[in-house]
Amino acid sequence: MNIPGTKPLTVLGIETSCDETAAAVVRGLPPGPGAILSNVVFSQSEAHAPYGGVVPEIASRAHLELLDDIIERAMAEARLDWRDLDAIAATAGPGLIGGVMVGLTTAKALALGAGKKLVAVNHLAGHALTARLTDGVEFPFLLLLVSGGHCQLLAVEGADRFRLYGTTMDDAAGEAFDKVAKLLGLGYPGGPQVEIHAARGNPRAYALPRPLLGRPSASAGAVDFSFSGLKTAMRQLAQDQTVRIDDACASFQAAVIDILRDRTAKAMGMFRDHFPDTASPTLVIAGGVAANRAIGTALAALAADQNFQIRVPPARLCTDNGAMIAWAGLERLALGNSDPLVIGPKARWPLSNSV
Ligand code: KG4
Ligand code: ZN
Repeated sequence: MNIPGTKPLTVLGIETSCDETAAAVVRGLPPGPGAILSNVVFSQSEAHAPYGGVVPEIASRAHLELLDDIIERAMAEARLDWRDLDAIAATAGPGLIGGVMVGLTTAKALALGAGKKLVAVNHLAGHALTARLTDGVEFPFLLLLVSGGHCQLLAVEGADRFRLYGTTMDDAAGEAFDKVAKLLGLGYPGGPQVEIHAARGNPRAYALPRPLLGRPSASAGAVDFSFSGLKTAMRQLAQDQTVRIDDACASFQAAVIDILRDRTAKAMGMFRDHFPDTASPTLVIAGGVAANRAIGTALAALAADQNFQIRVPPARLCTDNGAMIAWAGLERLALGNSDPLVIGPKARWPLSNSV
């Protein structure tokens, strides 16, 4: 007989909310760590590169063409049969609605056909909970979520309990990297390109604005982000024929680091106030931008300074993937949650309201 809550759960996860078509199988139990039995990710970035950004119509068509094969490969690599699964999880939002519909509809069909539970997963919860899949990080923890679509600081109190400390008023951090890369004529996706050039440049070469820096901690929106002023300054810089690309990238990245460091430091103070009993608090960095080593190094130094532990999942689990969706589905399943087949996709789906 299986004692509830002690038998590891096995979940297939499907991710189609942006330009990665991905499926993975994970096994484990909260708080983790879990085992990644397979993790197949196909990046469509080549198809979108000529446009310098993701084209929703191209993305949803590609998901439709690719997804069946990706799922078959994920199941084969995990050496599992459908009956070995406890549930099928899929991103149900937020994201590009056409892609989300492809993944969620496929998950519904599989759940119905295989007689398995369906778990609709919030993509942001997937990023948020990845550090439990990889490191078994206990609740509560402070999360800096920095991706192409989001830039937020949150307290993660449970698999479906989040407190929003701050968010972006305009662009996401990754979006700013992508736009700057486009302005400077670098490839897409821009983040990795900017990082490579930044490593060869002088971060003090160009004076750039750091929007909202130095706002008092107690003021409303003290932990909010804004990148539009920085982006405008970069547009002007890019128009200068004599601009040095490496120096421009290094100066831009240094500004982003200052902004992220300032807001994260303030959020650390809020987290300590909210959770005074957490003896050794943890900062988790998640989302595609967490793959940036210079950002990781700067935040690791901040964490050491503020007596926070830091966890950054490996780069392949920071960018969009199926394992994070499978794990977030597994966490909900372990709480006794699953979803009816009538559940709909959501283009917008915030994790929580602000504190
Ligand atoms: O999490 P993700 O794969 O997709 C979203 O959910 O948005 O994040 C993709 C974003 C892109 O904007 C990409 O340019 C950025 O993450 N990114 C980076 C780096 N690698 C990916 N940004 C800065 N430095 C990097 N090394
Ligand atoms: Zn993402």
